[in-house]
Amino acid sequence: MTAVARALREGLRVRGLEWGAEIEHHESLASTSDRLKEAARAGAPEWTAVLADEQTGGRGRQGRAWASPPGGLYLSVLLRPRFEAFGLIPLAAGVALVEALREHGVAAELKWPNDALAGGRKIAGILAEASSTAGRLEWVVLGLGVNLEAGEGLPAGVRETATSICTLTGARVEPAVAAGAVLAHLSVWYDALRAEPAAVVRAWTERALPWWGRPVELQSGGQVVRGIAEGIDPRGALVLIGEDGSRTIVLSGDVTAVRLEP
Ligand code: BTN
Repeated sequence: MTAVARALREGLRVRGLEWGAEIEHHESLASTSDRLKEAARAGAPEWTAVLADEQTGGRGRQGRAWASPPGGLYLSVLLRPRFEAFGLIPLAAGVALVEALREHGVAAELKWPNDALAGGRKIAGILAEASSTAGRLEWVVLGLGVNLEAGEGLPAGVRETATSICTLTGARVEPAVAAGAVLAHLSVWYDALRAEPAAVVRAWTERALPWWGRPVELQSGGQVVRGIAEGIDPRGALVLIGEDGSRTIVLSGDVTAVRLEP
């Protein structure tokens, strides 16, 4: 076991969490989620976690790349949900991320479906990938990326829209420490999903950008959808009200513009 994996396990133990599953730490990987998918297919248990100091082929949502130079948290965790509300896992992870960031002095807000922003810039992202066999969900690999250090290693174009814990607070947070906070909060909200999914939807809504009742614009499946953001429904879909009063339920997409002026 590497020193980073040992530090993470110890950090979780101090928080009262004996981590039963393996924690793998690598100096460099193409993608922690790709490595964890291999482990999932080989039968790894729930809560197996993989982290890396850098990724050479980090992946983001919608087929985008996730620039992953050293100085970030690149963490994937394996879930094998046996409950109805598994579709809300990305939202639960978003809530966990915001709470973990708050521990490090960052007030982040969630942008649907699951970006974490601080001061209008992206500080963390979530990629949830699932596999099912014969209609039965086998596993979910949840990949979490958090910008810990200032973005010198990030490509131009990302640097302008990103921020980090260090940029905002001046503090350098070790990946093992950040991972401990994320996993601890995630385990709480994952249990909440089993017990009371509506509590997760409420928690997500409370931590979202203050856009409820305001006009938003979304890119979804190659189309632009506009409307007033009403809220999210019990499945985590975004509900928009059109000019004619019609309700549109958006299951996936990217918010490309939020006009905050009335
Ligand atoms: C996004 O906002 O587009 C999601 C970014 C998710 C990045 C994380 S970093 C750890 C894991 N491994 C990957 O290749 N991607 C996720």
